[in-house]
Amino acid sequence: MIENLSEIRQEYTKFSLDISDVHSSPFHQFKDWFEVAIKSDLFYDPTAFNLSTCGVDMLPSSRIVLLKSFDEKGFQFFTNYSSEKGIDLDENPFASMLFYWDKLERQVRIKGKVEKLSDLESDNYFNSRPYESRIGAIASSQSSVLDSKLSLEENILELKKKFPKDPPRPNSWGGYIIRPDSFEFWQGRESRLHDRIKYSKNESNWDIQRLYP
Ligand SMILES: Cc1cc2nc3c(=O)[nH]c(=O)nc-3n(C[C@H](O)[C@H](O)[C@H](O)COP(=O)(O)O)c2cc1C
Repeated sequence: MIENLSEIRQEYTKFSLDISDVHSSPFHQFKDWFEVAIKSDLFYDPTAFNLSTCGVDMLPSSRIVLLKSFDEKGFQFFTNYSSEKGIDLDENPFASMLFYWDKLERQVRIKGKVEKLSDLESDNYFNSRPYESRIGAIASSQSSVLDSKLSLEENILELKKKFPKDPPRPNSWGGYIIRPDSFEFWQGRESRLHDRIKYSKNESNWDIQRLYP
């Protein structure tokens, strides 16, 4: 039993972040921090991020997904288009991404508009996945109620017989790209006086501002 949560108290002291330290492009800044997170070997999966969506019910919903690529156009992840997040994004194509690399005392928030990737891009990524993962993606009606685990296992066996190799990507599975219009880089500091640098997209470039902690 945890007696007193308020006694769990960490100080954040490892790094600092000044407006004079950051790149003019938030993508470049993200790339620097992302590379540090990957190369540090401190994280089991530094590509994991929290994705928050909100459909017409106005009830925000969050879950972890994996970043599969990024460049100046946006951030890509893959999922089931009929899942809860897929339905939310059909209703409201805006999302928020959050990376938290705790051992670096860093958080990155990214907000933007989400679009589906092309069929070709989704096919290319789908076909690069291990066979078992492709079969799993076909078998799983992600986020629907599963009455018995056995029916999923039977479905997987049948799919393996039907597609002993090269299972095709189902239309309900594919990629999204998040096209950012704001980024915030947060660096933990002593006494909760954290450093926060925000990038907001303007007509042709990015405004960069420091925020109160
Ligand atoms: C580390 C980790 C990585 C995950 N990666 C993905 C992913 O890339 N795509 C995905 O659809 N779900 C992924 N999931 C599962 C999601 O968190 C979530 O359970 C699932 O997508 C259903 O979400 P939804 O019902 O909100 O649509 C991952 C979960 C964890 C914990």
